[in-house]
Amino acid sequence: MEKIKMGIVGAGIWGETHAQIYSSYEHAEIVAICDQNLDRANAFAEKFGIKEVYQDYREMAAKSSCDAAAIVTPDFLHADIAIALAEAKKHLLIEKPLATTREDVYRMMDSITKNGVRAMVDLHNRWSPPFHAVKNEIATGKYGRPINAYIRLNDTKYVPTKMLSWAAKSSIIWFLGSHSLDTLSWLMDDVPEEVYCVSHKGVLAGMGVDTDDVFLSTIQYKKGAIAQMENGWITPFGNSCINDFKFNMVLEKGKFDIDASSHNLVKMTTEESVITPDPMVSNMIFGQHKGFTHESIRSFIDKLISGEEFHVPLEDAMRDSLVLVSILESAKERRPVKVQF
Ligand SMILES: NC(=O)c1ccc[n+]([C@@H]2O[C@H](COP(=O)([O-])OP(=O)(O)OC[C@H]3O[C@@H](n4cnc5c(N)ncnc54)[C@H](O)[C@@H]3O)[C@@H](O)[C@H]2O)c1
Repeated sequence: MEKIKMGIVGAGIWGETHAQIYSSYEHAEIVAICDQNLDRANAFAEKFGIKEVYQDYREMAAKSSCDAAAIVTPDFLHADIAIALAEAKKHLLIEKPLATTREDVYRMMDSITKNGVRAMVDLHNRWSPPFHAVKNEIATGKYGRPINAYIRLNDTKYVPTKMLSWAAKSSIIWFLGSHSLDTLSWLMDDVPEEVYCVSHKGVLAGMGVDTDDVFLSTIQYKKGAIAQMENGWITPFGNSCINDFKFNMVLEKGKFDIDASSHNLVKMTTEESVITPDPMVSNMIFGQHKGFTHESIRSFIDKLISGEEFHVPLEDAMRDSLVLVSILESAKERRPVKVQF
């Protein structure tokens, strides 16, 4: 049975998710882990039985026996690592977003093309059952073309204040806006042309995390559709779901509405709290990791083996990052910005 030998750069929260998937999937095995924190890399290697341990991604690129690498470092630290690994002819699964500056996006695209490696960005909402159902229905043509849409993807304050050590160096536009913009553009089957965004800062800064609280973005698509996107990370700690995820779309002859977070599919209550986790996102069934956030990662392995196109073309992820750069420019300058690709 063909197995892809995977290396992972980033032994953090989401790196662990990658490792759980590769170590339980018959078509993958983890051969290498790299983290700048060597203690963390060693503990990770011990937990998952990984033989090759590196502290420096350049050494991993030079020496590792891996066929492909997952880049699971903070949002703004993907480019140099991806380029070093591409130059070593390793295929790449890059966590979202592809990159957070125009320069990094172009540098990565050049290197991936020049070195002839395959690369996918883990924009996993394309595997989400409700969004996929909408995509399939739009494709039938019976609803006509999309006219306007609203997407809201927020996190609770837990994420920037307790979960991520690097929130102040990133933005909710990168952390969640990358998912929501990709979902919108994929469903619209269109490319943003112009954006206008306003933002609010103060709540998280007051809690010691120097990053914007929330962004409201208006997006004009090339074929004429319009959309609004809300991304914030200041919903209260007590929210029963870490995400607040809503979607509505109006088309010429129909509409779609998705509640992807507070649908009460499962409610878990203790003496202290009520939570409503979403088992479609991630869960464990008979010892196997299931859920759409895991399907995207397994799909990367499957497509590497089959040679078929990835479900997230690299050009889409590139455009997502460039649109998000424009959204941040618009929020800073308080004016509409034409997107440059
Ligand atoms: N697809 C998803 O839903 C999802 C969910 C969470 C995080 N993510 C993405 O995964 C990435 C990592 O997020 P996280 O929550 O795991 O962060 P994290 O802080 O838990 O882990 C990041 C790890 O990268 C290591 N690191 C940083 N710079 C490095 C370098 N130069 N070389 C080697 N190791 C380095 C850190 O030491 C840390 O262990 C981010 O891009 C994030 O947006 C995706």
